[in-house]
Amino acid sequence: MTDQNSDAIAILGGTGDQGLGLALRFAQAGRSVVIGSRKEERALAAAEEVRNAVPNAQVTGHGNEEATRLAPIVIISVPFEHTAGTVKAIRDSLSEGQILVSMAVPLATAVGDGAARTVGIWQGSAAEMVDSLAPKGVHVVSAFQNVSAHRLRALGESVECDVVVSGPKAAREKVMELCPLVDGLRAVNGGPLSNARTVEMITALLIGMNIRYKQPDGMGIRFTGLPD
Ligand SMILES: NC(=O)c1ccc[n+]([C@@H]2O[C@H](COP(=O)([O-])OP(=O)(O)OC[C@H]3O[C@@H](n4cnc5c(N)ncnc54)[C@H](OP(=O)(O)O)[C@@H]3O)[C@@H](O)[C@H]2O)c1
Repeated sequence: MTDQNSDAIAILGGTGDQGLGLALRFAQAGRSVVIGSRKEERALAAAEEVRNAVPNAQVTGHGNEEATRLAPIVIISVPFEHTAGTVKAIRDSLSEGQILVSMAVPLATAVGDGAARTVGIWQGSAAEMVDSLAPKGVHVVSAFQNVSAHRLRALGESVECDVVVSGPKAAREKVMELCPLVDGLRAVNGGPLSNARTVEMITALLIGMNIRYKQPDGMGIRFTGLPD
């Protein structure tokens, strides 16, 4: 843990649609971003892309294991079907007290079926599966599943989405603090990690609605009646 920057946010699979979108937004907010990839050169190229889009961005690229060691908060941004393998690959790089964020949606595309429905997970949700694989002392939090990658990557525009954050209280609160770094994201306290079951399914619903309403940029969700 000696090389960790307390301000840094690591994004494994930060080379892909959603991960690069978050990397751009967090860098724009002035946070240090660590992009992870299975191939270091892909992470370096993604970091360059962030620097080109966000002048003065604090961003570096590394292999997933090294990226995991460099930040107190590590977001896994790989497709659901590769999530378990990714957690196993970084297991020895995680240390006690780190926060591991699950963003995966168990879309049925993982088994060759459609994107507008999910598959059942033995542990209850993708986030709980991640929790079952993470080492003891690592705090798993569920967040960002309902946020559209297209909207994240449209840097000049507000993302306009609520983010239901679930998991153990102290870690959940730390991840909730990340949401307002992105213009238009609002954190909502989602309680225990098991509520990720509902949150993950909402994404499949949104994907179906994007198709029915012909909304390629992606819809989001907003809750009403929350106190200010
Ligand atoms: N896209 C969205 O709008 C959206 C919205 C909400 C939630 N999410 C969630 O965010 C996560 C990432 O989605 P995405 O659309 O960004 O995915 P993606 O672009 O298809 O892939 C993200 C990254 O995953 C890594 N990856 C690909 N195959 C892999 C494998 N076999 N093993 C390990 N890593 C592999 C790749 O990184 P490297 O090759 O660099 O290792 C890739 O750049 C998913 O869990 C998804 O459910 C996405």
